[in-house]
Amino acid sequence: MQTIKNQIRQLKAEKNAVILAHYYTPDAVQEIADYVGDSFYLAKIARLSTADIIVFCGVSFMGESAKILNPGKKVLMPDLTADCPMAHMVKPGLIEEMRRRYEDLAVVCYINSTAELKCQSDVCVTSSNAVNIIKALPNHNIFFIPDRHLGSYVAAQVPEKNVILNDGCCPIHAKITAVQVRTEKERHPDALVLSHPECESDVLALSDYIGSTADIIRYAGASDCCEFIVCTEEGVLFELQSGHPGRHFYFPDPHPCCPDMKLNTLERIWDVLKNEDQVVMISDDVRRQALFPLERMLQTADSVSPATHTSSTEGRL
Ligand code: 13P
Ligand code: SF4
Repeated sequence: MQTIKNQIRQLKAEKNAVILAHYYTPDAVQEIADYVGDSFYLAKIARLSTADIIVFCGVSFMGESAKILNPGKKVLMPDLTADCPMAHMVKPGLIEEMRRRYEDLAVVCYINSTAELKCQSDVCVTSSNAVNIIKALPNHNIFFIPDRHLGSYVAAQVPEKNVILNDGCCPIHAKITAVQVRTEKERHPDALVLSHPECESDVLALSDYIGSTADIIRYAGASDCCEFIVCTEEGVLFELQSGHPGRHFYFPDPHPCCPDMKLNTLERIWDVLKNEDQVVMISDDVRRQALFPLERMLQTADSVSPATHTSSTEGRL
C-alpha cells in the first residue's frame, strides 16, 4: 500500500506537474511541495515554470496570478474555494472615483487582490517589494488597495508621496493585538518581535523587524538572537523550525491561523492531480489586463532590487 506522499510523487512525475506552496499552508503540504515561499517568490516561480501543470497550494489570488503569468499552463488548486477575504475589499466604483479626484494617480494593488481589481491597477506589489516599487513610480499620488495596514506602513517609508489608503485589511493579522504581543514579551523578555506589515500599527510599533513571510524567516536565521515572537500566520513555524533548529519561536495567543490556507491538504493535492478538476480559469480579456500590473511589478522589482529570494525547497520530495 503506497503512502499518499508516494502517490502524489508518482502522479506528479507522470503528469510533469510542479507543486508550489505558500508558507501558511499545512506542514505536510510545505513538506511535499517543490517550491515554498512568499507571494512574490511564488509569482516569479509560476512565471518561469516549464512544467505542464502547476498545482498552486495557496488562496485564489495566488492561483489566478500564476495563470495570468503563465497562460499556457494548466493551473490547478487543491481547493478552488480557498480565498483571501481581503482580496475583495475595495468598494465598487472607488478606483474610478479616485482617478477622477486626483490627477497623476497611480493605483497600486497589493497582490492579495482579485484579478478584476488588478485589471484596474497600474502596478502590483507584494509586502516584500511595495516600498521600493512605490519609490520608483513617477506619480506623486498613490491609491493603495486593498490593505490599509500595509498601505500605512508603506506610506511612512515614502514620505515624499501622498499615499491614499483604502479600508481593507487581513482579518487574520488584524486580530493580533498589542496586548497579546506585550504578554508574549513579558513571558519571553529576550525575544525579538518579528511582524508582517498586515498587522495593526500598534503591533508594528512594538516590532523589532517588519517584513514579508520570507523576510521574517531570513531575518530569524541571520539574527544573533535565538528567541522570536512571530506576528504572522502560524504556518511559517514549519520553515522557521526546519531552517533554524535550536531557535525558539512564539506566537501571539491564540495563534493566528488562516482557515483558507488550511484548505490545502495532501488528500486534496492527490485528488486534484488525479482528476485535474479544480482548474483556475480566467477570461482572455481579464488575463490581458491583469497581466500588465503584474509584469510591471516583476520588472520594476528586478530593476530596483535584484532578486534575492532563495526559499526554494526543490528536491524535498
Ligand atoms: P507574503 O507575501 O508575505 O507571503 O504574504 C502573503 C499573505 O497572504 C499575508 O497574509
Ligand atoms: Fe488573506 Fe490574511 Fe489569509 Fe493572507 S492570511 S491569505 S491576507 S486572509
